[in-house]
Amino acid sequence: MVEAFSPGRVELLGNHTDYNGGLVLAFAVERGVTIRGAARADRRIILRSAAFPGVHEANLDDLAPSRERPWANYLVGVVAQFRRRGLDGPGFEATDSSDLPSGAGLSSSAALECAMAKFLQRLWGTDLPDMELAKIGQAAEHEFAGVRCGLLDQITSLFGRAGKIVSIDCRSLEVALLPAPEGHVFVIADSGVKHALVAGEYNERRASCEAAARDLGVEALRDVTPEGLEAAAGSLGLKPLMRARHVVGENARVAAGREALANGDVAGLGRLMFESHESSRANFENSCEELDFLVGAARATGLCLGARLSGGGFGGATVNLVREADAGAFCRGLSAAYRERHGRDLSLLVTHAGGASA
Ligand code: GLA
Repeated sequence: MVEAFSPGRVELLGNHTDYNGGLVLAFAVERGVTIRGAARADRRIILRSAAFPGVHEANLDDLAPSRERPWANYLVGVVAQFRRRGLDGPGFEATDSSDLPSGAGLSSSAALECAMAKFLQRLWGTDLPDMELAKIGQAAEHEFAGVRCGLLDQITSLFGRAGKIVSIDCRSLEVALLPAPEGHVFVIADSGVKHALVAGEYNERRASCEAAARDLGVEALRDVTPEGLEAAAGSLGLKPLMRARHVVGENARVAAGREALANGDVAGLGRLMFESHESSRANFENSCEELDFLVGAARATGLCLGARLSGGGFGGATVNLVREADAGAFCRGLSAAYRERHGRDLSLLVTHAGGASA
């Protein structure tokens, strides 16, 4: 029996910066995906999921995306990337199970990919470094799920550790672990609105950022400062300028967030989170009414240091920074406000920075 685990992740600051060569602060949550399985004597792979009905079967020499069982694409996509790198081993049977709410902005898809990469690494006896496993997960997402994501989710899932914030430079791929704010927890509030990543909004935003970089004559928006952007604002159309303002502003906020973490300035970190959300709402237009409501309601409790949407956006979850002692009262206040406004229950997860893949 072979077993592997990878956690879900939360983006703390640095929204849509990863595929722009930018900076991110994120952390792994204390929940994730487990894959259990065993080798077979032939070249078949047989996949099951605790969350979805059906069995997905494929052959190691003929791996393609499935329309009928989209959940299997994250797994098969990873196997295809191993094969593409000339790696090989026996067929296998495997089942995934998860205690991560799916579609809630915790990147259950990256957790699946990373757990699969760890599983295969163990089953086939390969020794790829974690950064290569992250790239494999990302390529699986591009080719088998059709989302042109960056590396934030996979790197955080693989590099996250208990009590640590993962600081990523998505250009140099340098990863540093910074201590999470002591005596504080993160409350993840799932709006219940399914995000529309695959529906194309995400890929459209990415294309728009890349077009803005081209128009500005730089390789990526990472190369632009807030002052430089405003000086060149006339060379961009309104929407590309708004998208660029968000990404450039997020990079600056991550840099400031790193300092806040280093100085134990939890209030400063929280302010940056509120600013980040406001920029998502106004510039990147990847928020929605429910997420805006959640951030406003979090602030109104008087117990929240910072709140923002986390991940791709267009639904999904907010991340809220609160003192551990206030977590219960905060959750009760936020739940009551959401129920009153939206007539349905909010699903909340209180977590420390967790990890690690194994
Ligand atoms: C999703 C993607 C990531 C990243 C975030 C936004 O989670 O998978 O690569 O772009 O959105 O920051």
